[in-house]
Amino acid sequence: TPTLRLGIAGLGTVGVGVLRIVENQAALLSARTGRAISVSAVSARSRGKDRGVDLSGYAWEDDPVALARRDDVDVFVELMGGADGPAKAATEAALAAGKHVVTANKAMLALHGQALAEAAEAAGVALRFEAAVAGGIPCVKALTEGLAGNAITRVSGVMNGTCNYILTRMESSGLPYAEVFKEADALGYLEADPTLDVGGIDAGHKLAILAAIAFGTQVDFEGVQLQGIQQVSIDDIHRARDMGYRIKLLGEARATPAGIEQSMRPTLVPADSPLGQLEGGTNMVVIEGDAVGQIVLRGAGAGEGPTASAVMGDVADIARGLILPPFGQPAATLTKPQRANAATE
Ligand code: NDP
Ligand code: HSE
Repeated sequence: TPTLRLGIAGLGTVGVGVLRIVENQAALLSARTGRAISVSAVSARSRGKDRGVDLSGYAWEDDPVALARRDDVDVFVELMGGADGPAKAATEAALAAGKHVVTANKAMLALHGQALAEAAEAAGVALRFEAAVAGGIPCVKALTEGLAGNAITRVSGVMNGTCNYILTRMESSGLPYAEVFKEADALGYLEADPTLDVGGIDAGHKLAILAAIAFGTQVDFEGVQLQGIQQVSIDDIHRARDMGYRIKLLGEARATPAGIEQSMRPTLVPADSPLGQLEGGTNMVVIEGDAVGQIVLRGAGAGEGPTASAVMGDVADIARGLILPPFGQPAATLTKPQRANAATE
């Protein structure tokens, strides 16, 4: 079987992590998939930057679109970020050129997931995005594959590690939001645009992607009732604690008789529940299916290793020849969701 050749656009936290796994776990990946996996070419903004990895064995492309179209690339791995711009242009170019795509880009999928899924299916290639939702937790795979025999009734959880860090740190330190926000910034936790984190937008993107898979509907990010954590005060946190609760940025998507309800907002959860005990940057995804009951998945939602782990799980599936509809069923069969909460908006 021929080697599966990757082209990686974006050599930041996640891109470098993927390079390391491809190099360090070559034997394991080949034993598990029956194919050698290699990197042909890479791309990032600044060519000269020291990234702590040896790039001399890979071709370099300044333009990610050119990378996506290269003849020696079978899988385009998009790890640049941004809903539009070069990430979207290069992803579209890859799909049009008949390349498989693996991406960690939740913003792009939340806004353009339907069109990209249609393009992938028309080209007969894979579009995979496990890393886009809750980093290292394989919740996309759980929903699309392991739970395929279930009607999903509810998906919920904590899907932004930065917000969970800020809220738990406020509680443990007694420091106000503004101080802990500065700490999170100094630790490098925040997205380039921190509003994506603290405004609940990033977590809303992830919830909308999971809801689409769970309910067989088109991604409806606009339908998520969103509220960030900026207004949560230390008094709120202490009052919650005194009543036996903690405040979490909790996402919830439910199928109701009136339609799909999606929300992402600060919520009281019992302190002794699995969600209440979630510390620091950890994520938790809770899935409820009619046959399986409740499943709780917990783990690192961000960081080099966990996110690259999810990317490589997708690459391994492609190496095995697994080409599934991106959202778990053909894109043409995904219906426009009826919003249960439309009347209250
Ligand atoms: P970084 O900011 O660390 O890296 C982004 C990379 O993309 C950099 O190497 C940058 O180049 C490159 N890049 C940016 N713009 C361009 C461009 N126009 N042309 C070519 N290259 C470009 O991001 P992360 O690695 O943290 O994130 C990558 C993706 O993964 C994002 O979609 C993010 O949302 C997602 N993600 C990240 C997680 C994490 O823990 N970090 C977790 C889950 C998902 P240069 O280095 O030269 O500036
Ligand atoms: N900013 C995101 C978070 C990164 O804090 O969870 C992972 O998607």
